[in-house]
Amino acid sequence: MSTAAVRTVPDPRPSVAAMAPYIPGEQPADPGIVKLNTNENPYPPSPRVLEALHGLGEASLRKYPDPLCRRLREAVAASLAIEAEGVIATNGSDEILKMAVEAFVRPGDAVGYLWPTYSLYPVFVEEAGGREVRLDWSESGPTQEQALESAPGDLRVLFVANPNPPIGRLVGLDDLRRLATRLPGTLLVVDEAYIAFGGESAVALVREGFANVLVTRTFSKSHGLAGMRVGLGLGVPELMRVLFRVKDSYNVGVAAQAAALAAWQDEEYTADVVRRVRATREWTTERLRALGFTVTESHGNFLFARRADARDVFAALRTRRVLVRYFDMPGLADGLRITIGTNADMKRLVEALEA
Ligand SMILES: Cc1ncc(COP(=O)(O)O)c(C=O)c1O
Repeated sequence: MSTAAVRTVPDPRPSVAAMAPYIPGEQPADPGIVKLNTNENPYPPSPRVLEALHGLGEASLRKYPDPLCRRLREAVAASLAIEAEGVIATNGSDEILKMAVEAFVRPGDAVGYLWPTYSLYPVFVEEAGGREVRLDWSESGPTQEQALESAPGDLRVLFVANPNPPIGRLVGLDDLRRLATRLPGTLLVVDEAYIAFGGESAVALVREGFANVLVTRTFSKSHGLAGMRVGLGLGVPELMRVLFRVKDSYNVGVAAQAAALAAWQDEEYTADVVRRVRATREWTTERLRALGFTVTESHGNFLFARRADARDVFAALRTRRVLVRYFDMPGLADGLRITIGTNADMKRLVEALEA
């Protein structure tokens, strides 16, 4: 019998074969580039993070990590005044967002989001074979109230990023409460990746006992740990028990757990970093407006700056080694999403734009 290698890949699920994969922002190797394209924190994490990592013994690396991330979850629960069973730690917040779709969306189910927003949500929905429902929240379109009211009652999941990239607008807590009340059969996922930079947290709804609200957080932005990949899901324990069923057993490594715990506990350091980023955001907003850009007030660690020649500006900045994000899609193609860097980074951006 011949043993020639099989050259044909077996058929994937139809939704996987048809889906458009997510294209992450570029991670250039050149350290001289001013990198303002993926909303990372320009400041290092708390010094306590490196201390915690240096303190890891070889035994802790040899063994599997705590599958329940108990120390981190207890610390998070204590400071947010919720139950530890209501906290889940994940491999970046992307993992908890994906788990929400995995646990709640069947093929054909409707999943909504305010649009434009984080462009990973549609990827998860496509992969699950769900049906996306874009609730128009373009700047020239409906008001926020109209956008939220347009959410149909049959949504299985509704994502609301708050603050919402790439513009950085906020949805108020009262509006989220009304939405969760009106849509009892919908899992309302409030993605708070950027909440430290502005806005009121929907964790209040978890404390009030809303069983259909999942709040997600990340250590990638305000805590400066994008490279570690740690996120959080927060909800009532009954909801989290559902999500725990689809969690990989050892989804957060030993180093990531230790780093996240140390970062979370250094609240003063994080508050100081957030203050600096916000001050730089205000400075940059004014400078960009003076350069002829239209900039809506942002509550995240990024800005969306519109000008008719945005595509050319993006390319010109790149040749000057300043990297920002350009979205070639309807409603966004006349703008640049610019992450807030250090004061020096933003001066380089402004100088490059002036040139
Ligand atoms: C709205 C939003 N949610 C989640 C994430 C992903 O964060 P993480 O690094 O925790 O996966 C991002 C990343 O840019 C984001 O913009």
